[in-house]
Amino acid sequence: MTYSTIVGTGSYLPPNCVTNTMLAQDMAQRGLETSDEWIVTRTGIHQRHLADPGVTSSELGFLAAEKALADAGIAAADLDLIIVATSTPDFIFPSTACLIQAKLGNKGGAAFDIQAVCSGFVYALATADSFIRAGNARNALVIGTEVFSRILDWNDRATCVLFGDGAGAMVLTASDEPGILASQLNADGSLHTILNTAGRIENGQVTGDPFLRMDGQSVFKKAVTVLDKSARQVCEKAGVQLSDLDWMVPHQANIRIIDFLGRKLGIPSEKVVATVGEHANTSAASVPLAFDVARRDGRIKKGDLVLMQGVGGGFTWGSVLARI
Ligand code: ACO
Repeated sequence: MTYSTIVGTGSYLPPNCVTNTMLAQDMAQRGLETSDEWIVTRTGIHQRHLADPGVTSSELGFLAAEKALADAGIAAADLDLIIVATSTPDFIFPSTACLIQAKLGNKGGAAFDIQAVCSGFVYALATADSFIRAGNARNALVIGTEVFSRILDWNDRATCVLFGDGAGAMVLTASDEPGILASQLNADGSLHTILNTAGRIENGQVTGDPFLRMDGQSVFKKAVTVLDKSARQVCEKAGVQLSDLDWMVPHQANIRIIDFLGRKLGIPSEKVVATVGEHANTSAASVPLAFDVARRDGRIKKGDLVLMQGVGGGFTWGSVLARI
């Protein structure tokens, strides 16, 4: 039996770190009122990293990928699969995965993007795991990378304070030992309007609304309901109890969603990795960024049982359970 196992992680944040106070001052110049107190109380976010103009998802993703490959001790040339989760690709095509493949100097491996917004990384990880289990890949690079700052309406105070830019990456390799134990992916497309960026290009012009729009309260309610169910489903599939988990690495959208979910699942806050305060919501990059932080600071260790969860536009959600 072949399994996939996580052998390396890496992440990258653009250097420009913008605190809530800096953002509030900037917004005030445009006649928008907000405060550190409002943002921290409602979301737990203290700061976010923003990419400089012109910096793309493939550039951030490449820098995270280099670190993950170095951590894994695997050469880029030995990758036979690259999957990139992003909703802010460099171009309509080619895929961001192909652009990162070229930057890494890999030729011939399969490379493609997955678009499941904030669930994207979990979708990509589950897909890479399926490729490896089926014998269709041996060394896979999975990346979540976003420049969400490009699709924010900086005149909409209800959304522009919530997001940041960044990238995270994982390297998976085929192994006789598990590895990724189970995954669970879901979507409900009838909810596509509660969180979307509904612009498109027609005849060379952007039509529709090119900015992220969100019904925050609907997203909050749906997120906690589906993530609770998904965590229970994936644990049941793997034959483990929620109390067996060493770590939960949830999508980093909002500390109130994370805390509420932890309480519903009975997982103590000491076992929950939360980086939303420092990174804000980096969409598909949020789970691998948080995972990499906790691995590098020594919290997540070899042998730990880790639940990763994503939720976002579509509406999409998913869980991956892994033995590290
Ligand atoms: N600063 C100050 N006031 C603000 C701001 C701001 N940045 N944004 C909105 N407000 C005001 C509103 O205008 C409103 O004022 P009013 O009462 O005079 O009309 C008031 O604050 C309350 O607005 P609500 O939208 O009702 O605020 P709510 O308590 O719902 O908090 C939030 C908003 C934080 C977005 C919340 O709905 C939430 O946590 N939703 C979860 C969604 C989420 O986290 N999404 C992230 C992306 S989705 C994903 O990753 C899955």
